[in-house]
Amino acid sequence: LTRGPAPADLAGRHVVISAGGTREPLDPVRFLGNRSSGKQGYALARTAAARGARVTLVSANAALPDPAGVDVVRVGTAVELREAVVAAARDADAVVMSAAVADFRPAVYAEGKIKKKDGQEPEPVALVRNPDVLAEISAGRARPGQVVVGFAAETHDVVANGRAKLKRKGCDLLVVNQVGENLTFGSEENEALVLGADGSETPVPRGPKEDLADTVWDLVAGRLAP
Ligand code: CTP
Ligand code: CA
Repeated sequence: LTRGPAPADLAGRHVVISAGGTREPLDPVRFLGNRSSGKQGYALARTAAARGARVTLVSANAALPDPAGVDVVRVGTAVELREAVVAAARDADAVVMSAAVADFRPAVYAEGKIKKKDGQEPEPVALVRNPDVLAEISAGRARPGQVVVGFAAETHDVVANGRAKLKRKGCDLLVVNQVGENLTFGSEENEALVLGADGSETPVPRGPKEDLADTVWDLVAGRLAP
């Protein structure tokens, strides 16, 4: 499959993309994590760079090579991801949150490895809420006209749940994936519906993650101030 020459419609723009999935440590050797591979976020970074943007990729635990010509900031936890995204977003024209950010983290980090105790049942793991990076970026846009994009994976009532989430987060665009068997996690392909705060709905048929990435940049480019 060959792709045509990319339009340089993001030249002179700075875009920030989060990718991968955060890991929330329990102790020095264990964490709570998720299955996000980071492939969609890396595809967004490659396509934005190809369209002329300066790209900051905040990458959480993705086992993928750094894309050429992209500034990669590696993070582990949701709190680290928030710091890196907020810092990079200060002069960004667009922020795309494709990372799977853990909603909760263990309330306590054990400095030493947690050990079993003979004849005792384990303690339950207490969790606390992580910061909501997308909601924070949307509510406090560092620049007027900054375009903010979220991602959501939904298993049912995709459109209704997506619309409610778009509103709750306050972003301009929400890319909604239907997740199920063999779909999305780690796969090379994606299929999605992109919801706009202006009421628009853009279906993206099943295809390479670059196709979805290019559709996201088309929609972002159309919303950037000239
Ligand atoms: N997100 C975020 N910070 C969080 C959680 C999520 O920035 N603490 C972002 C994700 O990167 C994604 C979007 O919010 O772009 C939607 O994530 P999702 O998990 O679907 O939303 P939640 O509000 O956490 O809703 P749910 O209860 O369905 O998990
Ligand atoms: Ca969540």
